[in-house]
Amino acid sequence: DAMVTRVGCIGAGYVGGPTCAVIALKCPDIRVTVCDMNPTRIGQWNSDKLPVFEPGLDEIVQKCRGVNLFFTTDVVATIQESEVLFISVNTPTKTYGHGKGRAANLKYVESVAREIAKVARGNKIVVEKSTVPVKSAQSIADILKANRNSQNKFQVLSNPEFLAEGTAIEDLLNPDRILIGGEDSPDGWKAIETLSSVYKRWIPADRIITMNTWSSELSKLVANAFLAQRISAINAVSAVCEATGADVGQVALAVGKDSRIGPRFLQASVGFGGSCFQKDILNLVYICESLNLPEVAEFWLNVVSINDYQKQRFAKRIVNCLFNTVSGKRIAIMGFAFKKNTGDTRESAAIYVSAHLLEEGARLAVYDPKVEADQVTRDLNNVTGTPDVVRDQVEVCSDPYEAARGAHALVICTEWDVFQTLDYARIFAGMPKPAYVFDGRKILDHEKLTKIGFEVETIGKRVRNVSQSHPAAITNGAGSGDGAAGLNSCE
Ligand code: NAI
Repeated sequence: DAMVTRVGCIGAGYVGGPTCAVIALKCPDIRVTVCDMNPTRIGQWNSDKLPVFEPGLDEIVQKCRGVNLFFTTDVVATIQESEVLFISVNTPTKTYGHGKGRAANLKYVESVAREIAKVARGNKIVVEKSTVPVKSAQSIADILKANRNSQNKFQVLSNPEFLAEGTAIEDLLNPDRILIGGEDSPDGWKAIETLSSVYKRWIPADRIITMNTWSSELSKLVANAFLAQRISAINAVSAVCEATGADVGQVALAVGKDSRIGPRFLQASVGFGGSCFQKDILNLVYICESLNLPEVAEFWLNVVSINDYQKQRFAKRIVNCLFNTVSGKRIAIMGFAFKKNTGDTRESAAIYVSAHLLEEGARLAVYDPKVEADQVTRDLNNVTGTPDVVRDQVEVCSDPYEAARGAHALVICTEWDVFQTLDYARIFAGMPKPAYVFDGRKILDHEKLTKIGFEVETIGKRVRNVSQSHPAAITNGAGSGDGAAGLNSCE
């Protein structure tokens, strides 16, 4: 029973790069090659500035690169030399044709399968790491089988990745579980055993779970659907809190103490982002629709709808509070990444909020510690479709104080730790009054900000603001009237 000596990976993105770096770190005797058809990305992986920011990643790449970890554009060589071959290419939501806006676009996965079928020599274990619809492994296997020459034998495994951006290295080093799905046959079991032997170098055997391919594929979609569902559930509650004077933080604390529920992922916010949650739920919805299960499809679709509602509510509240007009006003967007400790902006709530404010004529000053200026511009151009507006009205700042200077409001879109330790008295001094903070992540000390003089608005909680202690603002108090409006405490 030969040990694995060469592992390859097609797709050097947020998943392929960090995953292979950790395999290389933990398996010094395995040669790990990561390839990508995008030469810019490979160039970055081979440079001092990696294309992906993850705490701990730089150190691992520095240690292993050129030793047993290699980044290359040579897809053919990677396929030919690897015994175990991961596919971790992107599987975005389809933007055209049948299933548009819902189904996963599998063209990248399929083209990789065809490339493998064309150039592979000898036996290979092909590992589907990308998140895919149920039965995709079967399609890969069918393509490989239809094209293989007689010497080649393939086994296709499903091995979905559960890492979360921002904590990818920690998640990879110490995962809750490794999931491997395979064919229920002696060859299938052997392939599962081979892949397990790689993970067993650093992961306890009882955390490696194996099952049939379809369960494995479906489990990944369901795990993301459950996680997103918790966020939408607490966000839906946050709207009730804002309308009643309850505090969503307190409600989450009380609810999360139930051991059947647990405290994690109960943090209300401006809404979830990231490349995966929405895409994977929509994919699940599409599968349910295809299987003629419309009630189930509807159930999961509502998780996405509440998320849209939450982003929209927050964006509208900013305009309402700023006296119903932001036209020509400078607004500081604090954080543009979809969560802290990543530079990834895919589906970030900040993009939606920014686009809404631009449409209302605001001038934006964007600050994020890890997102490059041209990424901000690209995202806003894509979403608004008005590059000239973006050019004229958006300034990307390299310093949080610079972004805040002269702004009518600070809008916290990402929960970066640095935002908790800024000198808010200094920031307040440089802002027109009343100076607003919209804390979309509930990370700031609202009492302290209020004492400085800020008007503070946050998710799922009414903060007693300076203006609200004036008689003129008495309608903001707890009455059934404004509760019915349900949107904000500014009207
Ligand atoms: P990504 O877009 O960062 O990386 C994918 C890479 O594959 C790109 O660099 C692209 O150039 C390359 N590629 C596409 N077709 C290729 C081909 N034919 N030959 C060579 N390279 C090719 O995507 P990311 O975020 O790494 O996601 C990959 C998969 O993993 C997706 O299915 C995603 O749903 C899943 N996933 C993502 C997680 C995340 O946090 N980003 C977490 C868990 C799963």
